[in-house]
Amino acid sequence: MTNQPDHVSGIIENEFLKLVKNRRSIRRFLPQSVEREKIITCIEAARLSPSAENVQPWRFMVLDDPEKIQAFSQDVFSGIYRFTRWAEKSPVIIVIFAELDWLANRVGKEIQGTQYFLLDVGIAGEHLVLQAEQLGLASCWIGWFNARKARKFLGVPRRWKAAAILALGYPQQHIKERRPKKKLEEILFFNSYNSKK
Ligand SMILES: Cc1cc2nc3c(=O)[nH]c(=O)nc-3n(C[C@H](O)[C@H](O)[C@H](O)COP(=O)(O)O)c2cc1C
Repeated sequence: MTNQPDHVSGIIENEFLKLVKNRRSIRRFLPQSVEREKIITCIEAARLSPSAENVQPWRFMVLDDPEKIQAFSQDVFSGIYRFTRWAEKSPVIIVIFAELDWLANRVGKEIQGTQYFLLDVGIAGEHLVLQAEQLGLASCWIGWFNARKARKFLGVPRRWKAAAILALGYPQQHIKERRPKKKLEEILFFNSYNSKK
């Protein structure tokens, strides 16, 4: 797996791709709060995401009170999840829940074998991440956390499944190196499996 050079033939360079290229998962933030307007703008970008059957299963619980984040982290990033403890210093923690819906989740899973709500919240979360990047914020997805404790700590109903967490803030580190990404040739197929054209 090698890094794709920035200029690959056939790619139309554009502002959106520049934003995507600049994004890195950032785990260290400045001890500076994030303006509520910026947080709300990020959630607005997520709100407008597509979703299966337009169910919009996402629910966002935003923590921006450092004491609350500390208490949440002690609870939710403990035991086998302690490797995520770095997140307790994040100025903002956003827990992305999926409100489980009978049609999209039960029927979809039985017939298609796909958990659409996970696709939906993934799309919404990445809308949020890219909007954050555009506003000068950095972020990191977190999948390694105690989902049951997160739900209980935040006092949300059982039908809300904590699917992921996003840490958000102004970056303390600027990582130039990009994590290795697969080459376009490895992941792109036109018309048939064997075809390169
Ligand atoms: C669904 C998902 C879950 C992730 N969970 C974690 C996590 O629990 N802890 C962590 O430090 N990073 C986590 N990450 C961040 C990945 O490690 C990171 O995206 C990957 O290494 C690629 O680096 P990049 O985002 O800078 O391109 C997660 C990313 C995604 C998309």
